[in-house]
Amino acid sequence: MKNPLVNVFGFLVLTILVYNWIGYVITDLSGGGKDVSAATDISPEGGESLYWGKGRCYTCHSLGGQGSAVRGPNHGQFGEKFPLPMGSRAVERAAERTEKTGQTFSAVDYIIESMAEPGAYVVKGYKNEMAVVYAPPISLNLNEIKAIVSYMMVQGGDLDMEAIDTAPSEISAKFYSKINAAQAAGGGDPGAGEVVFEDNCEECHSLEGEVVVGPDLSTIGDKGIKHISESILNPAKSIASGFETYEVETKDGTKIIGLKTRDEGGETDITKKNGEVVTLAKSDIKKITVDQNASVMPEDLSEAMTVKDFQDIQAFLIMQKAEKKDGE
Ligand code: HEC
Ligand code: HEC
Repeated sequence: MKNPLVNVFGFLVLTILVYNWIGYVITDLSGGGKDVSAATDISPEGGESLYWGKGRCYTCHSLGGQGSAVRGPNHGQFGEKFPLPMGSRAVERAAERTEKTGQTFSAVDYIIESMAEPGAYVVKGYKNEMAVVYAPPISLNLNEIKAIVSYMMVQGGDLDMEAIDTAPSEISAKFYSKINAAQAAGGGDPGAGEVVFEDNCEECHSLEGEVVVGPDLSTIGDKGIKHISESILNPAKSIASGFETYEVETKDGTKIIGLKTRDEGGETDITKKNGEVVTLAKSDIKKITVDQNASVMPEDLSEAMTVKDFQDIQAFLIMQKAEKKDGE
């Protein structure tokens, strides 16, 4: 070959091929490429192939001498730092959770909580960076998660398939419905949804039971996914009661549009979209009407969001439920 560039190019192609081949072999060895999702066996064996494959647990965790990742705790018995393997460690952690929450946690409850709500208990010495395993890109479904729980329990613990699968405790059942809800919401990532919420919605909505500009959303999950998505896509279609849009015309000809947030004595407060509160003397008002077809909530929010943002925020909001609040 006369042209040295052709050589370089040929070498590059070869390198890429070799890399891909190595990648393929490694994925295959670790169980990565196998399709276990089609019919997940809710058993420790099913969980094992998910742990070292689709579930990607091995990217942060090791199990005893298997694997090399150290970002998360080792799931086996390993050195001084991990005197107990996960199945029996979970019994100890469950006792801590029982003390902290006042609810009786079993070992299974603890492991499920680790996956459904990783931030609830962060293992000492680690960061709160456990992946949301039922959200993209991992997207495990409930049966796959149950299989992994059984795999965790056989690491030195007592395997009780009933507690995992057919007759979960009240605590586990709650986490299961949370996982199912997140999956039903298009598999959105609730953690990412919280950030979307902070960026786009928090200026008007509280999750703490207060009215900012719009209604409190701390129990919006109870109204269901359809209501949530419609409220975001088409706010004016169903206006939350008490949050109608008022149009006020004053005697000097000014028009003010917003929510009526106070109406007492001789005064009326109108809160505008930007949160500004305008206090008007009733004697200055010429006309005040309710516009049933307009919402103070912006119509174009969904345009500013990507599809992923939208799925993520739905997953985040569907979890804002009254029962969840009681459990905290
Ligand atoms: C992005 C890295 C990452 C991935 C992926 C990950 N984890 Fe974790 N995991 C962590 C970290 C960090 C902790 C410790 C902090 C905490 O408690 O949340 C943790 C904690 C845990 C715990 C509690 C451990 C203990 O000692 O109490 C369990 C159980 C667990 N993970 C299971 C899993 C399973 C099962 C998977 C795969 C489906 C998985 N993790 C995937 C990072 C990860
Ligand atoms: C400028 C203020 C404002 C912003 C920003 C805003 N909203 Fe709203 N939102 C409102 C108002 C006012 C209402 C009540 C009127 C209505 O139902 O349209 C409302 C209603 C809702 C409802 C229905 C509540 C119920 O109880 O039925 C949901 C859900 C909602 N908003 C979600 C969101 C989300 C998600 C975002 C961010 C992506 C957002 N809102 C951003 C003002 C706002």
